[in-house]
Amino acid sequence: MLGDDLKSLLETARREIDAADAPALEALRVALLGKSGSVTMLLKSLGGMAPEERKQAGALINEAKAKLSDALAARRAVLDAAALAARLDAERIDVTQPPRPEPLGAIHPLSRTMEEIAAIFGAMGFALKDGPDIESDWNNFSALNIPAHHPARAMMDTFYLTAAENERPAVLRTHTSPVQIRTMLDWARQRAEQPGAAPVRIIVPGRTFRADHDATHSPMFHQSEGLVIGPDITLAHLKGCLIDFLRAFFGVPNLPVRFRASYFPFTEPSMEVDIGWSRKTGEIGAGTDWLEILGAGMVHPNVLANCGIDPRENQGFAFGVGLERITMLKHGINDLRLFYESDVRWLRHYGSSPLAPATLHEGI
Ligand code: DAH
Repeated sequence: MLGDDLKSLLETARREIDAADAPALEALRVALLGKSGSVTMLLKSLGGMAPEERKQAGALINEAKAKLSDALAARRAVLDAAALAARLDAERIDVTQPPRPEPLGAIHPLSRTMEEIAAIFGAMGFALKDGPDIESDWNNFSALNIPAHHPARAMMDTFYLTAAENERPAVLRTHTSPVQIRTMLDWARQRAEQPGAAPVRIIVPGRTFRADHDATHSPMFHQSEGLVIGPDITLAHLKGCLIDFLRAFFGVPNLPVRFRASYFPFTEPSMEVDIGWSRKTGEIGAGTDWLEILGAGMVHPNVLANCGIDPRENQGFAFGVGLERITMLKHGINDLRLFYESDVRWLRHYGSSPLAPATLHEGI
């Protein structure tokens, strides 16, 4: 009797196991072999049997249990293999597929100009420096030999920050020149400890601010300062560096460069630097007209002294160049406001490839 019952139980269970998915298989295992599963209950019933009967029944039930365990394991193996195959299939990556075309960004023309300046002056041994946008009145004006009531302060249309009473307000720097002061103060301090400290040779591209807004002026714009200080730096170095810079930057090897006497409070002598161009065609290096490009000069002895440098021991030159202006000239851009409009069509047109960084190898 028991043999027949077990046989039909086995048959039914096998059919169900072979058709089961993973959750159904687990339910079947519990229903058959779990704590109160049907086979487990049969095993428990052995206790109430006579010894002879128990021996026979025990063998039959255990045999059935082993067969069920095998069937469950076999089905689980089939389901696991199928699940793995499905996953491998779903997660397959076709490594032979060509990449989707990614739109390549472009370097903003002003950033490009800064990179070019870094490349050109870097080749001459200049280091890159920066300074804060918010400056003290002293760094931005006084230390640069621009005293409290000097007209140059009004000329620069300064943005002042609110200040405590009896304190000079901080300013949004009106030029990159305060980084000259920071650099020379550091240098003087360094030399006090280490008299052989290397001479100063820096360029300082960065943001500058003036309350001014039209087609050629923006309240936020960019300049680069340059500064060279050492025991034997002369006007000849200034001229050589700036001529080389302008010729490399504009890509005109014999570009005419003119040094014209001028005035800045922080240099003596001071000069404007002009390049040759044709007013008629706008071509740089052609024609007979002159175009003002930047200001420069020999650092004023007062400025050196303000920074703790003895003008009888060290001297040097400085220059300041407006980056929007030289970028507009180089690329034929006629409205400065376009730099800040973030029009992607404009950026795509005037931007340069991020995969071709500025180097001097083939000209800037
Ligand atoms: N700071 C001046 C300006 O913003 C530019 C300048 C002129 C910087 C002469 C210099 C310099 O270092 O020597 O107009």
